[in-house]
Amino acid sequence: MSQFDHKRLFLPGPVEVRREILEAQSAWMIGHRRAEFAELFARLQGKLKRAFFTDSRVVVSGSSGSGLWEGAIRCGVRDERKVLHLTGGAFSERWADISRANGKQVDCVQVEWGRAHTPEMVANALSKASYDAVCAVHNETSTGVTNPIRAIGEVVHQQDDALFFVDTVSGFLGTELRVDDWGIDIALTSSQKAFALPPGIAFAAVSDRLLERAKSIPHRGYYFDLLTLEKSLRKNNTPATPPIALMVAADVQMDAILAEGVEARWARHRAMRDATHAWALARGFGLYAQAGYRSDTVTTVANTLGIDVNAMGDFMENEVGFAMDKGYGKIKGATFRLPHMGDVTMNMLQEVLGGLDAFMA
Ligand SMILES: Cc1ncc(COP(=O)(O)O)c(C=O)c1O
Repeated sequence: MSQFDHKRLFLPGPVEVRREILEAQSAWMIGHRRAEFAELFARLQGKLKRAFFTDSRVVVSGSSGSGLWEGAIRCGVRDERKVLHLTGGAFSERWADISRANGKQVDCVQVEWGRAHTPEMVANALSKASYDAVCAVHNETSTGVTNPIRAIGEVVHQQDDALFFVDTVSGFLGTELRVDDWGIDIALTSSQKAFALPPGIAFAAVSDRLLERAKSIPHRGYYFDLLTLEKSLRKNNTPATPPIALMVAADVQMDAILAEGVEARWARHRAMRDATHAWALARGFGLYAQAGYRSDTVTTVANTLGIDVNAMGDFMENEVGFAMDKGYGKIKGATFRLPHMGDVTMNMLQEVLGGLDAFMA
């Protein structure tokens, strides 16, 4: 058994959280209508804008990322118009389902799981119809594919009215994302992936264009209404009671991230990706995601050796001390995922890979 006092998470979310961050949550509570909170909010806002590479604003939501999926759709897509979803994995498909559940008219560009969306596919769809928004998943956590968001954005903006919505739940702070330069109208994320915070808080960089659109839509709901969130944000506040402890933790974690450097953090993730690929290929496994689009934050290993993923999970948990992934949804078992995201270090990754070697010996 490992020397650690707890089972470490080696999952593609929630990820392992450093003790310092867990402890930051135990600070004495502050009231969210008081000056101390406004100071915390403003401090965090400045750091989040640097992390998203945006000059606009970053809304803070007391929910997981899924809530902001709904907020984006309700605030950005008019009922009489359509939304285009780029689907090809569990999460991109779920976002399209959420648009349907909100009564929106949905078209999809569906690719096989493990494949990426290309700008040409999007240009083709946009040549046939006009859309209020195009929704793309930056990093599809179920398959380990990273989509070429920057190039897709260039195509989307050729259509006047189309806004560009990006789910970067498992990409943000692990792989390159530049909201303003890439023309993204909403980039939404959760806390429990490469941000390496506990779950329960979500963030989104939101453009002026999207807020303008929202003004033309009457029934946007309340909790995830971006105009309501923006109104409070201007006063360094939130409309509803926020997850204060998680915001304190986010503030501390952002200091560590900015000290590391956002770009250096991306580079660390990429180096861990390369080490993971080298390990998998040297052992005779395949890589599930399409070459050229393999994620920096999570590698989906094609289980070509046919290892028993349940036995692997038991071994890693009981003998090495890590909770492991066994694959997602319809590709569970045929694949398993090695998440190299968040505050994972090369040493921790090597410990995991060494454990897997011991299992297979
Ligand atoms: C790419 C992606 N989008 C959205 C979600 C949903 O996020 P949450 O569970 O924070 O609501 C996940 C969760 O794993 C995800 O991986």
